[in-house]
Amino acid sequence: MRIAFAGVALPKRGAVAVGVMEGRKLSPSAAQLDKRTGGAISRALAASRFSGKADQALTILAPARTQLSRLLLVGTGKADEVSADGAARRGGTIVGHLLASGESDVTVMVDPIKGAKQDDNLRAAHAGYGAKLRSYRFDKYRTKMKADDKPSLKRVTIACSNPAAAKKSFLSLDAVADAVFMTRDLVSEPGNIIYPKSLAEACKPLAELGVKVEILGVAQMKKLGMGALLGVGQGSANESQLVVMQWNGAPDAADQAPVAFIGKGVTFDTGGISIKPAGGMEDMKWDMGGAGAVIGLMRALAGRKARVNAVGIAGLVENMPSGTAQRPGDIVTSMSGQTIEVINTDAEGRLVLADAMWYCQDRFKPRFMIDLATLTGAIIISLGHEHAGLFSNNDELCQRLTDAGKAVGEPLWRMPLGDAYDRAIDSDAADMKNVGDRVGGSITAAQFIQRFVNKVPWAHLDIAGMAWSRKDTPLVPKGATAFGVRLLDRLVAEHYEEKA
Ligand code: BES
Ligand code: MN
Ligand code: ZN
Repeated sequence: MRIAFAGVALPKRGAVAVGVMEGRKLSPSAAQLDKRTGGAISRALAASRFSGKADQALTILAPARTQLSRLLLVGTGKADEVSADGAARRGGTIVGHLLASGESDVTVMVDPIKGAKQDDNLRAAHAGYGAKLRSYRFDKYRTKMKADDKPSLKRVTIACSNPAAAKKSFLSLDAVADAVFMTRDLVSEPGNIIYPKSLAEACKPLAELGVKVEILGVAQMKKLGMGALLGVGQGSANESQLVVMQWNGAPDAADQAPVAFIGKGVTFDTGGISIKPAGGMEDMKWDMGGAGAVIGLMRALAGRKARVNAVGIAGLVENMPSGTAQRPGDIVTSMSGQTIEVINTDAEGRLVLADAMWYCQDRFKPRFMIDLATLTGAIIISLGHEHAGLFSNNDELCQRLTDAGKAVGEPLWRMPLGDAYDRAIDSDAADMKNVGDRVGGSITAAQFIQRFVNKVPWAHLDIAGMAWSRKDTPLVPKGATAFGVRLLDRLVAEHYEEKA
């Protein structure tokens, strides 16, 4: 879909979207259209319950006295709450309404609003960003789609007072959107297409953006002593991989230490010998959502030339049952030297992270470390699909993450850590076991990971409930969400970039 910017002028044809503020207060463009249509908007408002609350929408088809195909009224909330992040959501809502409506063109009027948090041009850029984010589709395997089901919307034109300024702001947002699309593609692909080697291969093009990409195979990981990660992959015909990505966008920074992101990349999780039930197992193709987000994040940072040094590490394995698979009760030695009794081969993500995180600290001495993982079903029991679980040893990092998540619509909820939980993974046979009892399953998983954190600020995001969505939201069509990419990009932009 094409996103374009233009000056303030109501279009003659096609669809037009205008804002209405809370209390049915018309934006300047809405008021102008109301006049042109002999009061069609006022009458529609009077006839409906649309009040202008944020994210409400109301369609008027073929308004009289015009050649327009439709008017879309979009609620913006109160004037002083009109923001760039809100504009992104509205851009997405508009595309959600029009994508397969038969319309091919829409003009979105972004007016100057007195008291708004950001000016109309920055809001326009974000409206374009939201429109693009919502336009994502993964249709490549649907060869027999009916014409009526295909997207019709081809172009979104955002009208604002300074289109050149809006377009300039849009460039870096567009880079982030491209990165989100990359993650969504990777997460949507099935396990026969995306396996450790093909996923590692998919990282290579990041080199064109200036990211240094290294890929470690089984032999190298053996040398490094990554017994925990390798144990998970040993039952699969697909060789495990570790991808190390570096973006050095702040070569002159006083503190050269990078920020680091580590992703769980289980390209398919059958559970291994502790095999999962058949029902719903196909969902486990997206058990690489954490790694997918880390890859997308690196693409976003490089794509918008973020002034930060960042490392992204993806631990890639396939968890399969077979004659060579790891057994329950096996004891493995991790790169840290700590031994692990593998009670349940389905608690594999933490084993992958243990070695990927140790490697990260050992080699890069990062400023902080954030891991993302579709780690536990239990986090879905706790938080549903509304928040990802946040576990951390650092209050400041937690606060920054929580704020960034709220701003971009990828919310986090902090969960506890503590010694009493940690006791649950003590083992009689080894330094620890990979599962506790059933209770507090997300917390004991986080405690396990924390045993591989070495006095560095660290946060763990359990995104099991957030990596895939069964419903559309303003910026995210149902399917792979790329949860974490926009959140962590915002975190970096707000707190960890060098000044220009
Ligand atoms: N990948 C799963 C977690 C998961 C479950 C993600 C549902 C998304 C949706 C993880 O590897 C797993 O199997 N966890 C087990 C842990 C248990 C064996 C302690 C779980 O949550 O049941
Ligand atoms: Mn599992
Ligand atoms: Zn898993």
